Amino acid sequence: MPGSAGLRRAAILLAATIPLCAAGAADAEPQPIGAAQSAYLMRCGGCHGIEGVSVPGLIPTLRGRVGALAGTAKGRDYMLHLPNVAMSRLDDATLASVLNFVVFGLGGASTAPGTPPFTAHQVHAALRDSR
Ligand code: HEC
Repeated sequence: MPGSAGLRRAAILLAATIPLCAAGAADAEPQPIGAAQSAYLMRCGGCHGIEGVSVPGLIPTLRGRVGALAGTAKGRDYMLHLPNVAMSRLDDATLASVLNFVVFGLGGASTAPGTPPFTAHQVHAALRDSR
């Protein structure tokens, strides 16, 4: 049949090219992530999503929203005492850095300029009785 050899050649070429493309894309993608983001992925991302976008109605989306909470003393206290935060088993400094990744990384424009970062000292003071 005329053309079938050409078709077969094209199919072989295509099959050979796909893994190359995939490898090329994988090479371009990886970017180093910091310790705070890494801890977020391990302890929080399973529920809140690796990019802070979770299942609507079940778990609050953090991306582009969580900054509003960090802008008030009440909201900050609420964040610190959330069960999955307070009982995260992260040390004070790491938990502070995860909260800061959440607020200043995922929070984006919802985080008002001048919002203070969480410190290990604040985490310790808020949670020392419950940890
Ligand atoms: C097992 C699932 C789960 C894990 C793990 C988890 N969360 Fe949550 N998170 C929730 C749920 C559900 C809520 C809604 C409030 C509630 O029921 O406690 C919430 C609420 C929040 C809120 C408040 C958001 C809002 O708009 O009210 C913040 C901030 C937050 N979590 C941060 C974290 C951080 C930081 C971690 C990791 C240290 C974490 N969460 C781990 C399920 C989880």
